[in-house]
Amino acid sequence: MSTLAIYPGSFDPVTLGHVDIVERSLGLFDEVIVLIAESSQKKGLFSISEKKEHLQDVFKHEKRVIIDVWPGLLMEYAGKKKANAIVRGLRAVSDFEYEFQMAAMNKRLRPSIDTIFMMTSEKYYFVSSHLVREIASLGGALTDIVPPVIEKRLKEKFKK
Ligand code: COA
Repeated sequence: MSTLAIYPGSFDPVTLGHVDIVERSLGLFDEVIVLIAESSQKKGLFSISEKKEHLQDVFKHEKRVIIDVWPGLLMEYAGKKKANAIVRGLRAVSDFEYEFQMAAMNKRLRPSIDTIFMMTSEKYYFVSSHLVREIASLGGALTDIVPPVIEKRLKEKFKK
């Protein structure tokens, strides 16, 4: 039986830190759904359809990665898909409390599905989407932080 993980996030925008987590998840699971989910606390730069297009572009050579969007509860989606696990990346100790709370709440909502945490690779410890947005808005370079196609999209966004 094949195994499936869901990697949810807001991906606004997707960074090389996210890509690293997806690639490593493919070593553990047969398929990974990268799920654009909504966080009630975040106001986005890119629309859902733009984010979907970005992720499809970034993972176009990886047949085992599926991009999807879900506006509701993550665990409802995970149940529908019969996922084996949720994957999340941890960058620093400061991520832990928020992630721990979310994982515990998700476990309560659907006890059969666990959250697996991966340490973010050292070179992406400092990366976060809001800093990427800020650097892009001020015209800074983002090489080695976001995929080239995302750097291009950010430049287009802030040119308008
Ligand atoms: N490398 C670099 N950066 C990383 C990273 C990595 N490996 N992993 C996470 N990040 C950064 C992101 O860039 C993002 O930065 P930002 O805060 O500056 O935007 C931050 O870490 C966290 O982002 P992300 O991983 O996208 O998660 P999120 O906190 O935005 O998303 C959801 C949370 C969407 C997964 C969560 O709200 C959810 O599941 N929503 C669905 C509704 C639901 O079920 N709610 C109940 C939850 S208990």
